[in-house]
Amino acid sequence: LRDRAPIIAIDGPAGAGKSTVTRLVAKKLGLLYLDTGAMYRALTWLVLNSETAIDDEAGVAELISQCDLELLVGSRPDVPVEVRVNGKEVTDAIRSAIVTRNVSAIAAQKAVREKLVSQQREWGEKGGLVAEGRDIGTNVFPHADLKIFLTASVTERAKRRQKELTAQGKEIIDLAQLQGEIEQRDAYDSDRAIAPLKKAPDAIELITDGLSIEEVIAKIVQLYEREKS
Ligand code: DC
Repeated sequence: LRDRAPIIAIDGPAGAGKSTVTRLVAKKLGLLYLDTGAMYRALTWLVLNSETAIDDEAGVAELISQCDLELLVGSRPDVPVEVRVNGKEVTDAIRSAIVTRNVSAIAAQKAVREKLVSQQREWGEKGGLVAEGRDIGTNVFPHADLKIFLTASVTERAKRRQKELTAQGKEIIDLAQLQGEIEQRDAYDSDRAIAPLKKAPDAIELITDGLSIEEVIAKIVQLYEREKS
């Protein structure tokens, strides 16, 4: 390990269980949890609630250039991270279906990625965090001490998403439709020109089909301990 505090990068497609796993690994190791997807979602929310069209790249760049984005860990007991854009609380709003449907188009834009990646690097300068996203190991923190590529089959991810919606008391979406939406988002995130979703050559791939959350966390902690020694 380097002489800064450790950085663990957890990348992978939508619905692989990254959020829960990252949050709990961070807790277990006493590190900060950084949800970079929440940052792309927050800017998507901002654009959707403005006069600017999602595909107006120059307009989006202008809109976000002055925007103030805050991620507060531990400020609300019911959510792992509270998100604010220009002082406005958007924690729940950024998880809505409309944000989910539009986030890939925003995340593909150069100005958006430049702004968020530079903020992520600033937050990560001193280390001491577990960051989840799509380009953490490949682009944001290429010198991370441990890189995990967390994935699962599309069927498994759709089933998990459906379970999550049920648990949240939200409208239940048909499994085939969920699977289609996940495939579409995967394709969009993997095929974009800038920092696409990709396994870093030195990342360890963990396929989580059939594994419990506890098993995945134990595996990552074990890999981290091995790396440290
Ligand atoms: O992990 P999530 O579903 O909250 O991420 C939302 C979107 O943001 C996802 O479709 C891809 C994008 N994203 C990204 O491009 N780069 C990241 N580091 C994190 C998320």
